[in-house]
Amino acid sequence: MKHSIALVTGTTSGLGHAAARMLAAKGYREVIVTGRSLARAQETSAELATETKTPVFTPLGLDLDSPSSVQSALAELVKQVRPVDFLLLNAGMVGGKKRVVTAEGIEAAQAPLIGHHRLTIGLLRANLLSPNARIVIAGAEPARGDVPMFSYTDLATLAAKQFHGDRSAAVEALVRNGPNVKYEPNRAYADAKLIVAWWAAALARRLPSGMAVYAVSPGSAPDTKAVRNLGPVMKSLMIPLTKLIPGMSQTPETAARRYLQASEFGTDVSGQFFASAPKKLTGPIEAMRHPHFHDRANQEAAWKAVVKVSGVDLSPASLSAVS
Ligand SMILES: NC(=O)c1ccc[n+]([C@@H]2O[C@H](COP(=O)([O-])OP(=O)(O)OC[C@H]3O[C@@H](n4cnc5c(N)ncnc54)[C@H](OP(=O)(O)O)[C@@H]3O)[C@@H](O)[C@H]2O)c1
Repeated sequence: MKHSIALVTGTTSGLGHAAARMLAAKGYREVIVTGRSLARAQETSAELATETKTPVFTPLGLDLDSPSSVQSALAELVKQVRPVDFLLLNAGMVGGKKRVVTAEGIEAAQAPLIGHHRLTIGLLRANLLSPNARIVIAGAEPARGDVPMFSYTDLATLAAKQFHGDRSAAVEALVRNGPNVKYEPNRAYADAKLIVAWWAAALARRLPSGMAVYAVSPGSAPDTKAVRNLGPVMKSLMIPLTKLIPGMSQTPETAARRYLQASEFGTDVSGQFFASAPKKLTGPIEAMRHPHFHDRANQEAAWKAVVKVSGVDLSPASLSAVS
């Protein structure tokens, strides 16, 4: 693919910042970099220009927790009229001990997906993704259920017990962290990234034929700000220990490289979730085969819930407009 325009969310620190830098080095003509406010995005864009000695960065204010901020960002992109070749939906967060919900009542670790959905569908509707665009959304290994201290919610069981078998209502309850969902930060994060993987699978079925979407875990990279909400024991003991154990961590650059690698995958693997090999947190990525990622009923339930919570759908009319 000719390297042209990339849009990376969450570039003010960590993997988004590293990915933006690497995209410039790879020869992208323009890299649109987002921060929660235009001022933060402008600072980041200036830092990146200095670090890379290239003037390819365009700042864009984008707070994924705020529907009006996503709308303004879309309006700005429509004004610029330059179709995006690589959409990197990297922004995300791990919640802390205290349950946080956005003004719309969405659990904080789930909120980036709702904002990313609004952004992606807005770009598709405005014909602002190029015909062979690649979309990568940040997943994470905890969604597999084989990372110590992290487990995900069994959707069918939650739906059967609390929502008369309605899986989409159960996903909505996870996204809102209620009703009938107890807040546990690690579980909320694993559930958020599981729903990300299901969303990518469902979106893949709805994209025009030349485009593709993948969920990609960058793997364990503790030298970012992702750990900011963790408790003091995790921060001062567990994370430093993790860094000492071979195979438990990698640099932000190695982690961000996975996103760039996936941007060159074909349409044949669209919708899949790529992560470290099972039970591993670093190393080469592969498509995850765990049955819970491939449950079509759960994928469609996730899509339906995200559409309902965001209020934004990809109608057949908008699909034909972009194909
Ligand atoms: N680091 C790891 O070990 C690891 C492992 C697996 C997956 N991941 C995933 O990789 C992605 C990047 O994480 P990171 O490690 O680079 O963490 P980070 O240093 O905390 O960076 C996260 C970025 O996302 C932004 N962000 C978060 N929520 C947002 C929202 N609602 N609206 C707008 N921007 C938002 C942050 O902006 P603010 O600073 O303004 O909040 C920041 O720019 C995340 O999706 C994370 O879940 C990380």
